[in-house]
Amino acid sequence: MAAITNINDLKRQHKRRTPKMFYDYCESGSWTEQTFRENTTDFDQIRFKQRVAVDMQDRTTATKMIGQDVAMPVALAPVGLTGMQCADGEIKAAKAAEKFGVPFTLSTMSVCSIEDVAKHTTKPFWFQLYVMRDQAFLENIIQRAKDAKCSALVLTLDLQILGQRHKDLKNGLSVPLRPSAGNILDVATKWRWGIGMLRTQNKSFGNIVGHAKGVSDMGSLFTWTAEQFDLQLDWDKVAKIKKMWGGPLILKGIMEPEDARKAVEVGADAIVVSNHGGRQLDGALSSIKMLPAILDAVGNQIEVHIDSGIRSGQDALKAIALGAKGTYIGRAYIHGLGANGETGVTQALQIIHKEMDTTMALCGRRHIETMDKDNILVPRDFY
Ligand code: FNR
Repeated sequence: MAAITNINDLKRQHKRRTPKMFYDYCESGSWTEQTFRENTTDFDQIRFKQRVAVDMQDRTTATKMIGQDVAMPVALAPVGLTGMQCADGEIKAAKAAEKFGVPFTLSTMSVCSIEDVAKHTTKPFWFQLYVMRDQAFLENIIQRAKDAKCSALVLTLDLQILGQRHKDLKNGLSVPLRPSAGNILDVATKWRWGIGMLRTQNKSFGNIVGHAKGVSDMGSLFTWTAEQFDLQLDWDKVAKIKKMWGGPLILKGIMEPEDARKAVEVGADAIVVSNHGGRQLDGALSSIKMLPAILDAVGNQIEVHIDSGIRSGQDALKAIALGAKGTYIGRAYIHGLGANGETGVTQALQIIHKEMDTTMALCGRRHIETMDKDNILVPRDFY
């Protein structure tokens, strides 16, 4: 087997080892996938400036995100159905992140529950919340995240209505589930994946099943989920959730300076410039293109983070040089997980760290916090 040297290598293995319907679920964007594509290609427009004869010893990528120590400013983004990419996927990813010293964010739509992940980790992780209409459920899940000592709540604001992904519909990954005969056959032939799934102890959407009223199995879960995303979400509700939670709050899905200012007003600790990895509003600009305008609007009042399209340590470093205080990877670590479980997530983190550290050195910087706009060239018409 060829050596794994970059995220693309992990992606190829992920594709080979995981049933098509779950690989496609990860590797797709909404409608024409324009935003999904540009999220990655727009990073190519930013270039680094090479420096020489600069002392490169004693470098560090360690810094802080929302006041918490991180080995590098790269968190694992919340990803739904992670446990379908690999058995116990959320637990494995959380363990890899913990060992590496970066935050892991557990999605509301995860297979393993908050309690499952807490049982298998020793340090606090972050919990991502979708705003649901069921108030009792909302209060309860926030309490569960508090009980599990989650150290930040990542509130996702850009998915009150679902962006349409053609591949998921064609694969039958829909509500209700309607896998095609081809997909069922494909699942049956992925032995390594299937054996792993059989070994898991009936974990199924543990954040919701058994906790939301009337949700006891997969059938009732799908019906409940389809009608629960709160179409009436507004900034007052965000403020209420902030109060209920009482801890560090990160608002995810901010793509406009005006919304960033609102996030400052409600007292969030950080925002994530994110278009959900191109899975929601197709035709939106890439996150990296929106970052400068959002930093100009609020960059000194709130921590600005970014995700969508980061596939290398160089991508993450470009965002940091522009002024972001943190980045998140979604697919980059899911490829690792699907390829090789916990080891694959560790590989993804190691690859990204190495790329970040080496690039930083070649830019003449020894500390990640000193990377800034002087290290990059951004086209005049970038945004
Ligand atoms: C996501 N994302 C996401 N976000 C969120 O807040 N809750 C969720 O449950 C999910 N689920 C999800 C599933 C899959 C398969 C993907 C790829 C993404 C969005 C995620 O947190 C993040 O914003 C993007 O993944 C970032 O883009 P990249 O790094 O994947 O390009």
